[in-house]
Amino acid sequence: MKIAVLGHGTVGSGVCEILIEKSKEIAKSAGKELELGYVLDIRDFEDVPYSEKFTKDFSAVLADPEVGIVAEAMGGLEPAHSYVKAALESGRSVVTSNKELVAEKGAELLSIARAHNANFLFEASVGGGIPLIRPLYSSMNAAGITEFAGILNGTTNYILTKMFRFGESYEEALSGAQTLGYAEKDPSADVLGWDACRKAAILSSLIWGRTLRPSEIPTEGISKITSDDVNLAESCGFSIKLIARAKLLENGKIFAKVSPAMIKNDSPLASVNDVFNAVLIRAETTGEVLFYGKGAGKMPTASSVIADIIECAKAKGNIKEVFWEDGAQSVFANADAVSERYCIRTDYDASMLIPGAEIIGTNAYITPPLSESEITVLEEKILEHGSLLSKIPLFE
Ligand code: NDP
Ligand code: HSE
Repeated sequence: MKIAVLGHGTVGSGVCEILIEKSKEIAKSAGKELELGYVLDIRDFEDVPYSEKFTKDFSAVLADPEVGIVAEAMGGLEPAHSYVKAALESGRSVVTSNKELVAEKGAELLSIARAHNANFLFEASVGGGIPLIRPLYSSMNAAGITEFAGILNGTTNYILTKMFRFGESYEEALSGAQTLGYAEKDPSADVLGWDACRKAAILSSLIWGRTLRPSEIPTEGISKITSDDVNLAESCGFSIKLIARAKLLENGKIFAKVSPAMIKNDSPLASVNDVFNAVLIRAETTGEVLFYGKGAGKMPTASSVIADIIECAKAKGNIKEVFWEDGAQSVFANADAVSERYCIRTDYDASMLIPGAEIIGTNAYITPPLSESEITVLEEKILEHGSLLSKIPLFE
């Protein structure tokens, strides 16, 4: 069976290399030979040993009946969406690392895959090289998952580690993440939290069966975190991480949020550094389960794409567990549905404005649990008298 790889960047080139270098192991696991058939990219790559496989014409891929699986690693919504849709409609299975595509178009593409008895798999789209999606649908599908929280973006975790543990500037740390192939083409998707938001939307949709749209999830990135915030957190036994979290509420709605958060140093998420990601799942039957590994980078991510290719090659028809639908109504709960404590820093003594606050430093407080509306009101009151230097929720 031929495999077509769309996009020959960080991830796609890793997929091509593993397909060639590990062909024997892959054939053993898949039960058949899987051969790199085509590589589609807008650029030319003459120096690679498989340069004769390159094409710029997607219709040539579709016209070859020997192509059984398409691996999409171009990124972005178009033309990825059109190509993936056409491949699924032709009865081929598709695997992708493209979280934007899965988060925005997952329900549609899963339904097309089902209608054509094919598969649409996306292990690499969340957590890079961590086996996460498959355990969720195959091992924890009856566990009664109630909640997840995680560090889902390698670039921002790398930047926070390099800036606040090794003293690099923001520019140096971002440039390192780009050189290592971790960052998105437009790195603001990492830094502003959109990438983690898309991954939270995918996990939520897969776990609870209905699309949670990325646009509905309140999202804040790491751009406002300062060394003063990190020093204060450390002095009180906390670390600051970009945390994506979601919770199934009793009314069937889902509360989700992406933001920097203060985590107690004894939490397993606090010691996740560099490009590593971790996802903590809470379920009725299992209690807490932790997934940990490299969240980005060429080979870890390509390894997840290869695992999906093998899964598709082995599958006897559509894998029914990998599915979610677009509901008529939004599944997102009111932003006020969950209350959190916040760490607040001001430039004056604001203790009178925050009844019940714990004072943790000069003009620094931990509030009692507050809803989104309550923290907004508090923020307005603080601004009447001076500046709000930072406002970071606690992850507990
Ligand atoms: P890259 O930018 O390194 O690679 C994408 C490749 O696809 C580039 O060579 C690009 O060419 C090419 N391409 C873009 N548009 C087209 C098109 N219309 N037709 C043909 N080729 C095209 O991205 P990555 O490999 O880093 O990421 C790919 C996807 O995987 C993204 O969705 C990303 O979010 C996701 N991902 C990335 C991870 C990582 O660690 N890098 C980890 C997990 C997921 P050009 O450069 O000229 O634009
Ligand atoms: N830019 C992403 C990250 C790639 O840094 O996590 C992996 O999805």
